[in-house]
Order: sequence, then C-alpha cells, then structure tokens
Amino acid sequence: MHNRVAVVGSLNIDLVIELDRMPNPGETVFGTRLERHPGGKGLNQAVAAARLESEVHMIGAVGDDGSGDWLKDVVTREGIRSDGIATARGTSGTALIEVDASGENRIIVIPGANDQVSPADVADHLKALSAVDVILTQGEVPIEVMIAAAETGKKIGAQVVVNPAPVRDYPKELLTNVDILVPNEHEAQELTGMPTSNMVDAVEAAQALQERGPGCVIITRGEKGAVWSSAEGSGQAAAFKVSAVDTVAAGDAFCGGLAAGLARGVSLAEALRWASAAGAIAATGRGAVPSLPSLAQVTELLER
Ligand code: RIB
Repeated sequence: MHNRVAVVGSLNIDLVIELDRMPNPGETVFGTRLERHPGGKGLNQAVAAARLESEVHMIGAVGDDGSGDWLKDVVTREGIRSDGIATARGTSGTALIEVDASGENRIIVIPGANDQVSPADVADHLKALSAVDVILTQGEVPIEVMIAAAETGKKIGAQVVVNPAPVRDYPKELLTNVDILVPNEHEAQELTGMPTSNMVDAVEAAQALQERGPGCVIITRGEKGAVWSSAEGSGQAAAFKVSAVDTVAAGDAFCGGLAAGLARGVSLAEALRWASAAGAIAATGRGAVPSLPSLAQVTELLER
C-alpha cells in the first residue's frame, strides 16, 4: 500500500447560520451567528484523510471567482495535491447551512463549478496518478463523473469508496463498480425505502443496498455507531462517546478516516475504528473543515 487517496468531489463555500431553532415554513426567526468556512463533501473528505497523514489528490472544480482561489489555497495549505482542480467559468459551489441549538443541521447546496467537472478529465487524471490505493467520491459532482471515477478506479486497481450524499438516482453502472458504499441512516432509508432506525433494520437495509452491486455497505448512524454488510457477513462498529455541538461534516470525517485507514492497508474493522473516531471528534467542533481532527487527536481517542 502507498497510503495514497484520490478524492473526486465538490469544493464549496459554506455559509453557516447558527440559530436557536429552525423556522417553520413562512416564519422569520433571528440567527445568532454567521460564519464562512471552506467545505463541500469532497474537500471535507480530502482534508479528513490528509490530516490523518495520507497523501491526498483532490480532483474537482472551483469557479473563476475570488472564492475559487480561496478554496484552492485551503487545499494547498492542507498539503493536498491540487493539480486535479480545474477552474471553471462562473461561481464556486456554495452551501447554506443552518445549525440549531441542539446541533441539528439543514444544508442547501448550489453546485456552481462542481457541476462542470468533466468525466474525461477525471479518468485521465486518475490514470496519470501512479498506485492510488483508494478513490473516494460523493454525490455533489455529476453522476457521470462518479461513474468515470469508479470505472477508472476498478481499472487501476484502487478500492472505490462512494458516499451517496445527497441521495440521487444512482445507476447500476456506478453501484457495480463500488467496493464500499457509505450512506448515513437517512440516506440508506431514502435509497431503499426501508427503516434504519434500529440496528437490525439498518443491517437489512445495508444488505438490500449491497444486492445492488457494492462489495460492502456501511451505514453510519451517528451516536448509535455504524453497521456493515459484505459477502463475509454483517456486523456493527460502536460509536465513541463525545459531546456533539455540530454534526456538519461528521459523516465526511468518517469517510475520510475510512479511506485513510484503508490506504494504509489496515483491516476493514480497524479502518472502521479510525472512521468512527474521526467522525466523533468532528462532531465536537463547529464548521466543516475547521472541525476535522488530526492523526494525534484520532490516535488519542482510539487509545483512550
Ligand atoms: O457534509 C457537509 C458538507 O455538505 C458541507 O461542507 C457543505 O458544503 C455540503 O456539501
């Protein structure tokens, strides 16, 4: 293993509004704070893996606005290779995120430049990288891009990990090239129409998703831990107990942690522990990229 991860995904400007409670339809409420952070499921997952000391290559697109340069600077500062990031005409991806006093969140994403990532460029870039261990992609880029990433991943012998967020109509030609599919419990419920709120139901939903093509399905369930199903059977991974303040990007930390563990060649069970620890720590901090943990923080939680 080369400890090398390629992330094919989105880069967003996150506009985060904190408020006591979410407004009802037609209602106006006061917020308590407005912040601007780097985010996007792709960038968050890339940063999560890079902070766990994998060599990370980011492939995606930003706009030719000032925000695009800012996002690229963040990538470079995190030690992530940025030559796979194109600059497209128009605005960078933007997410409007509301977080209430209980830490619950709602997110609206305007894809912007993320919609202009080209499947052919992605395939060419991945083929030019030598010895990629893990390719990680998510649903905030065009589905054709995800298909190209997964197909190329199979050809170059990488493990393909897909985070199907947000939920879209993911086709069979994508799912059959996926080694590990990682939805959260809400996404798994939407994708299968099956309940996921208790462990037994969640395992059944994971099995149903696995029948669509992925080698393994891991459903993340926040403080209830994660369940998995693969050809070897099924099981669960316990969550680490933390005081959550903001769960934005906790799922991204999980996916980045999983990819970093797999890229180092640890077992799936151990990679799941890395993922769970990274996800738990991310929930204790505000914002997406700012909340992602270092290797020292994850190691400390794993040893505690
Ligand atoms: O998963 C959290 C991310 O979702 C945010 O950073 C936001 O940009 C949206 O993509």
